[in-house]
Amino acid sequence: MSFDLVLFGGTGDLAWRKLMPALFQAFRHGTLPAGGRIIGVARDDLSDAQYRQLMAERAERVEVAKRPNAEEFAQFGAMLHYLRMDLSQPADYERLAALLREREADCVVMYLATAPGLFTSVAEQIGAVGLNGPKTRMVLEKPLGHDLQSNRAINATLASVLSEDQIFRIDHYLGKPSVQNLFALRFGNTLFEPLWRRDTISNIQITIAEDLGVETRGAFYDQTGALRDMVQNHALQLLCAIGMEPPINSSAGAIRDEKLKVLQSLKPWTPESLAQHVVRGRYASGTALGQPVPGYLQEKGVAATSTTETFVALRTEISNWRWAGVPFYIRTGKRLAGRDAHIAINFRPVPHPIFKTPLGAANRLVINLQPRDGLELHLLAQSAAQDQAEPALAPVHLNLDFDQRFGAERVGAYERLLLDVIAGRLNLFVRSDEQEEAWRWVEPILQHWRNDPAGPRSYAAGGWGPSAASAMIARDGHCWSEEM
Ligand code: BG6
Repeated sequence: MSFDLVLFGGTGDLAWRKLMPALFQAFRHGTLPAGGRIIGVARDDLSDAQYRQLMAERAERVEVAKRPNAEEFAQFGAMLHYLRMDLSQPADYERLAALLREREADCVVMYLATAPGLFTSVAEQIGAVGLNGPKTRMVLEKPLGHDLQSNRAINATLASVLSEDQIFRIDHYLGKPSVQNLFALRFGNTLFEPLWRRDTISNIQITIAEDLGVETRGAFYDQTGALRDMVQNHALQLLCAIGMEPPINSSAGAIRDEKLKVLQSLKPWTPESLAQHVVRGRYASGTALGQPVPGYLQEKGVAATSTTETFVALRTEISNWRWAGVPFYIRTGKRLAGRDAHIAINFRPVPHPIFKTPLGAANRLVINLQPRDGLELHLLAQSAAQDQAEPALAPVHLNLDFDQRFGAERVGAYERLLLDVIAGRLNLFVRSDEQEEAWRWVEPILQHWRNDPAGPRSYAAGGWGPSAASAMIARDGHCWSEEM
């Protein structure tokens, strides 16, 4: 199958940090269909040879194991082409159309790795020059809008140019092998399904912690914040994977229908729950990897009067028969104690204890997403030192390491997603109704914050966020997994 992949933003950060390395890995693994063209599009005046040179230089900065050698790059580089375009000029889209019509590939992927403000106009221009035929697929990076209204407006424009199954909205968390494993864990095994419900599960905690700060993205991040950047998309997608009903088959439609139902079942916010069940924070100076680091307000590009949050912790529920009353806690933030994404499924304690157990001890399944990828099953076992009158139990755990088991065979998130786009597989992409539902649910939080003069709570860089996040969960009689 032949393909043309047009990379709008072809000299940008995403292209060279994520997309080109991923395409190269697919090439190296032999999974990138042969005979494709990768056409970088940007404003710079470059020839094909200069673009190849630029990408070759940047490939030098990729981690050693993933770096192409000269021979490999010579072969891969032959797929790279360049087209200079001013995205506001209709005539430039005509030039793109001419380039694509030269060979009529089986599939044309338009990857919009540009500033989000350009999405709708680029889509319209693509439609205007007739490049929106059935062979075209469009890939959009988040953020798609900054609230429900703007998201709907973007989706409406896209829908006027392309059909829904031509639109690939990326949530790169869905491309992570560890996240795909969540689906495998739940729907490829019978073991957990009978337990996966309110009768046995006490609470579920989703943590996506980052040790990095906002790095060079201060100006963008200051307009965005953790709720829009991480919760509206990545964290809610994880929540869907944990909370959804088994889909009737593995098709994109069936999976997305079930995810949508979870989003529709999220408990609506009330003034009380907004006040008690949502905590926002902002990092102050502290340490990261043992080095002193500045606070958020001192980061480049951040307004001195900023009220943007770099941390969110919240409690919600899925209001349906399976989950009614089970708290789902979500927590994400920058400059936390480490890079650690995991989901803790905390089971209820036994209903009638006959053994002496450590306080609060119960079974727990920890799904490690990154940097480790695996499962930990925490159980209780008879401890060695026994008092026969009152036998005691001690915690033990089973530890599965998927990196060790599957290591070299695993495919990175962007590599997987790009191959799926070329193959037309929509399973790991987000449908417009899912995305709108997620925005609908976060919107009251944004509204509440706009009217709340208190602003985000401060936390020291290198910790676990503001103490109010621990207080929130403690009110339910629980604690975060690292506090156990
Ligand atoms: C992106 C966010 O979507 O995800 C970033 O915009 C964040 O702020 C990143 O750092 C985290 O991704 P990962 O794959 O490193 O967990």
